[in-house]
Order: sequence, then structure tokens, then C-alpha cells
Amino acid sequence: MSKPKVFATHSLFDAARKILNESCEMEYWAKPERPPREEVLRRVKDKEGLVCLLTEKVNEEFLKAAPKLRIAANVAVGFDNIDVAACTKRGVAATNTPGVLDETTADFAWTLMMAVARRLGEAEALAGSGKWKHWDLDQLVGTDVWGKTLGIVGFGRIGRAMARRASGFQMKVIYTDAVRAPEAVEKELKAEFREMNALLAEGDFISLHVPLLPETRGLFNAPKFHRMKPTAFLINTSRGPVVDEAALVAALESGKIAGAGLDVYENEPFIHPGLKRANVVLAPHVASASLETRTKMACIAAENVVALFAGKRPPNILNPEVLKAS
Ligand code: DGY
Repeated sequence: MSKPKVFATHSLFDAARKILNESCEMEYWAKPERPPREEVLRRVKDKEGLVCLLTEKVNEEFLKAAPKLRIAANVAVGFDNIDVAACTKRGVAATNTPGVLDETTADFAWTLMMAVARRLGEAEALAGSGKWKHWDLDQLVGTDVWGKTLGIVGFGRIGRAMARRASGFQMKVIYTDAVRAPEAVEKELKAEFREMNALLAEGDFISLHVPLLPETRGLFNAPKFHRMKPTAFLINTSRGPVVDEAALVAALESGKIAGAGLDVYENEPFIHPGLKRANVVLAPHVASASLETRTKMACIAAENVVALFAGKRPPNILNPEVLKAS
């Protein structure tokens, strides 16, 4: 029997390639730069499977170009790049990679929080510049993280991983979410629920952990920044468009908030020039980028593809209704 043809928009990692190569006829995009859209659309013409990164928009245009497609496996937990409804309409299974990147992403949100509070970017620049003359009492003084209040927006797996880390820093943890967590979870994580406005007024560090949905697009806008303390920091490792970037720049410029640690942006890879300032730590969407985690993510995507072609339910299917239909 012939193997299903699958296109991967990345060379992935050896472990994931091994999984895919065993049961699929694979074609990998192996160049370091992202493939041009026309190239992807040309290559998926005859493919039944796709393994893609979050930079690939799997929308109507894409699906039209890939009439044989049966699965689009995203190597990411966020799947705002995939039009799941359009996939469902065409009977294409869509999958993501939940569960394996929570701790790594929380680690990185913490990294940004520490870096911006303790002015690591400025400190590193000074230490490396050859201009550091002497120790001084008030040199690069930052803000304590320990003992402060951490406000978590979105209390899913990653939000909860943030909360777990906070206890070692003797922080008070407050959170907000559309759905309040079970009492046992609040108790275990010593996390108190707040309505959004109360959280904004109380938090010293506000860390975002919501998916990008129509309801969360632009969620952090000027009125939200006005409600934050002028000493508070915003940390975003979720999705860029959750924050109105122009409003954030205005809040930083006017001192409405003290600073920000950002891993994601409204129009990646473009970064608003107003964010390039001393009190903002910037990273290029790398919160899940440990070798262990990225390898697991690629393997999970591969396993989803292999499961579908073996007639099994892909473990991370987002639109299981397509299976019932077939
Ligand atoms: C995701 O998985 O959604 C991240 O943004 C990349 O790890």
C-alpha cells in the first residue's frame, strides 16, 4: 500500500522525522528561512497531510490549494493560524500540541519578569560595554519580584504553572479567567480569584496566558493600562494581538505602567519601534524554545499525523467531528 504524502514546512527534529518517515512519504522544507507562501501552496497540491508551524495560515486559500488534505498538524499549542471551522467544513482534521510546553513557557514568562524587574538588559549592556567604571549604590536599581503580587490573566495550564512558581518567591497570586478554577486548585496554588479590574488594580506583575480568540483580541487596551499601577509590569508570552501595541507604547511612554516583558507581538516579526526602550525586555517568540520541549512538540504533531493515517483518533484533534463524518 502506498504511504500517505505529507508536507512538513520545517525539517523538524530527528525524533519527529523518525516517527513520520516510518509511515508517510515525507517532503520537508529544509531551508532555514520560512517557505514562501506560493511555494507552500504549490507543494501541498498533492499532499494528504501537513505538519506546519504557527507562521503558516491554514485558511480557505490554503485548503483550496490542498484538495487532498486530511490533516493539518500544528507544531504549537496556539492554533489561531488555523481556521478550524474551514478545516471542519472540508473534513480536514486539525491538531495542536497541548500539555508539553506549559512548564517551559512559564519558565520563560518568569525569565521576562525577572529580567524587566531587575533591568537585566541594561545590566548586560553595561557589563559588556567596557564602560562600567565602579560599583555604585544606586546603579541599575530595579524592583523586587519576591513578595509582590502576581496577577495571572488566563488560568489554564500555563497560568497555573506560573502560579506554582510564585510560591518560591513568596508572592501573592491572584488570577482572572472566564471560568473560575475549582476550589481545590485555588487552594493548592494559593491563588485568589479576582475580576479583571480588581486584578489590574492590585497586581505588581500582570502576566497574560490566554489564547487568541475574537474575545481576547486587543483585550489589553488603553483602559486596562490606565487601571494598572504605575509601578506594575506587563508580561506577555501568549499571543501578540491580545495586546493593543500602540496603547501599550502610549502607556509606557506616559508612565502609566513601569515596563513590560514581551515575547509576542501584534504583527510578528515586526516589533513596534516604541517598544524598543530600556524598560521593556523583548524576545522573539521563544517562550517554548527549549530543545526538550520543541522536540516534544514536533513529535506530538508527528504522532497526530501518524494516528490519523492509521485510522486512529489523533490524540490532539481540535475538530473531532471530522472523524465521525468519515
Ligand atoms: C505555541 O505553542 O502556541 C507557542 O506560541 C509556540 O510555542
